[in-house]
Amino acid sequence: MSGEITIVPFNIPLSPSSSSFCQLDGSAAAPFLSPPLPPTFVQLNPVLSTASNLLSKNSVKKSHSSGSFTCFFEGLQKLLSSRTQINSSRKMLKSRSRCIFLSGTLNSRGFDRRFSAQSKLEGKVALITGAASGIGKETATRFISQGAKVVIADIQHQCGMDLATELGSNASFFPCNVTKEYDISNAVDYVVSKYRHLDIMYNNAGVACHTPPSIIDLDLAMFDQVMAINVRGILAGIKHASRVMIPRQSGSILCTTSVTGLMGGLAPHTYSVSKSSVIGMVKSVASELCKHGIRINCISPFAIPTAFSIEDMSRFFPGVETQRLIEMIHNAGALKGAKCEPVDVANAALYLASDDAKYVTGHNLVVDGGFTSFKALEFPAPGQLQ
Ligand SMILES: NC(=O)c1ccc[n+]([C@@H]2O[C@H](COP(=O)([O-])OP(=O)(O)OC[C@H]3O[C@@H](n4cnc5c(N)ncnc54)[C@H](O)[C@@H]3O)[C@@H](O)[C@H]2O)c1
Repeated sequence: MSGEITIVPFNIPLSPSSSSFCQLDGSAAAPFLSPPLPPTFVQLNPVLSTASNLLSKNSVKKSHSSGSFTCFFEGLQKLLSSRTQINSSRKMLKSRSRCIFLSGTLNSRGFDRRFSAQSKLEGKVALITGAASGIGKETATRFISQGAKVVIADIQHQCGMDLATELGSNASFFPCNVTKEYDISNAVDYVVSKYRHLDIMYNNAGVACHTPPSIIDLDLAMFDQVMAINVRGILAGIKHASRVMIPRQSGSILCTTSVTGLMGGLAPHTYSVSKSSVIGMVKSVASELCKHGIRINCISPFAIPTAFSIEDMSRFFPGVETQRLIEMIHNAGALKGAKCEPVDVANAALYLASDDAKYVTGHNLVVDGGFTSFKALEFPAPGQLQ
């Protein structure tokens, strides 16, 4: 699969320090850390995911209770058991799908119609900041699987270009540092010049911060740098998306915030303040954009092991293996039997960006397995009272 990569001459120097995103002191960014492979195939392969959705429809189940279908289903299950065989899985799926067309009541045109009917973003154009890795990368992948054209905007040029290549002709990369308003403005203009309009703007780029825990030690220079990315960068994205969406009187804007913007004590003050600002920003701007038929919402994820959080954790737990850090993050969740993963945020973004959420605006969709909804009172059991 070959991707379309378009790099427009730009004002960002391509030095290693300029492409560093987490180190605010200008040192090189940590090497990209691959997130753990997710447990379900849905995250791994949009083709399989769509097929799975199709299989869950009763009508398809009923009309394909033949041996061929059983054969297909077993084949699919085999695919799920091996994460390392994605490419061969895709080939298998194709051949098994042919099996359905030949034996079932659905001909291939009918199948295609069902396939496309499930593409929630068909014909939509999205710009996603911070899409070269983690949550943004997963969302770009998800959006494309649902028929969207996606422009990946990020400060990490190589990762962004590689991802565009991987995702194919519906993806392209545009270098963008969200701290520079003209970068964001140029990215939006690039989308409009390439696709004629912008339907979805996802302001996702963000950084962690490393500051002493006490407010009396707050480093205000660091505060300004984090706010420049996590707050000003998002506001600039909203501003320039609105510039091109208002004339069309339509569009959907998304922002990534965090559970740390909802509850105190989960992150350094600077980061928490930056994330709670975004929740307020979304509500404020929603009051204006609703008059133009434009929706704006944000998503507050729980901790997810991406490059962002693993690097952060490594500072607290130097020498601890990455796999152990991943487990620690997952174990911190509240919902038994589930882990918070990039695909959970990507699915939330898909919902908010699509017409499924056509009457949802000014909302903060919390993806935290209930973490911020309750707190247990740790009284001793009656029989244990002394
Ligand atoms: N991972 C978590 O635990 C978690 C939890 C809640 C919220 N978030 C938020 O999710 C968002 C995405 O983070 P992630 O976990 O996917 O981390 P990530 O590090 O994998 O992705 C962040 C992306 O943002 C890009 N970026 C950083 N600074 C930029 C800048 N100035 N201009 C353009 N791009 C820039 C990075 O290059 C990177 O590709 C962030 O806003 C983060 O605050 C993350």
